[in-house]
Amino acid sequence: MNENSLELQSGCAVRPASEQDMKSIRRLVWSAKLDPTQLRWEQFWVIECEGKLAACGQLRNFAGAQELGSLVVAKDWRDRGLGSYLTKYLIQQATEPLYLECLGSRLASFYTRFGFTEVSVQELPQSLKFKFGLSQLAKTLFRIPVTIMQYQAGF
Ligand SMILES: CC(C)(COP(=O)(O)OP(=O)(O)OC[C@H]1O[C@@H](n2cnc3c(N)ncnc32)[C@H](O)[C@@H]1OP(=O)(O)O)[C@@H](O)C(=O)NCCC(=O)NCCS
Repeated sequence: MNENSLELQSGCAVRPASEQDMKSIRRLVWSAKLDPTQLRWEQFWVIECEGKLAACGQLRNFAGAQELGSLVVAKDWRDRGLGSYLTKYLIQQATEPLYLECLGSRLASFYTRFGFTEVSVQELPQSLKFKFGLSQLAKTLFRIPVTIMQYQAGF
């Protein structure tokens, strides 16, 4: 897949989430063992394929920053470009400097493709320091491989 293209396969469409999607979003987030808190449908976008919710992702709002989070593609729909599409789509929707945290080097290299680079807690805006700082503490205490990344526009 071309990393710069923004094309969705036929039968699939991206749209802002609605309240009715919340159950499916929760199911997707739980299935991927991602943070089940702060799931507000108003912040989500979803990809619907053949009438089913195939992927979701959100932009959480902080003062002067946003976090790309809860990116999940349903198992049956993985490896077909939906995760890449939604990542690029959310980057386009972002209106503030964009950050994320992810687990493991495989995911970090996935996000690198789209222009995210690793940053330290010290480089974060104040509004994100507490939340992401906690993850860094977990990283240190429990050796959890958390990576904090920032989207570098025009990379
Ligand atoms: C990560 C994820 C969103 C990718 O979605 P996808 O639609 O399968 O991805 P795409 O088809 O666009 O891209 C495939 C690429 O994603 C990467 N990828 C696929 N599954 C992955 C996984 N579990 N972890 C990390 N990277 C993964 C691969 O590197 C693959 O690369 P390739 O093109 O060289 O083979 C999807 O695997 C998923 O929902 N995982 C569980 C939830 C999760 O970890 N979300 C990220 C939270 S930070």
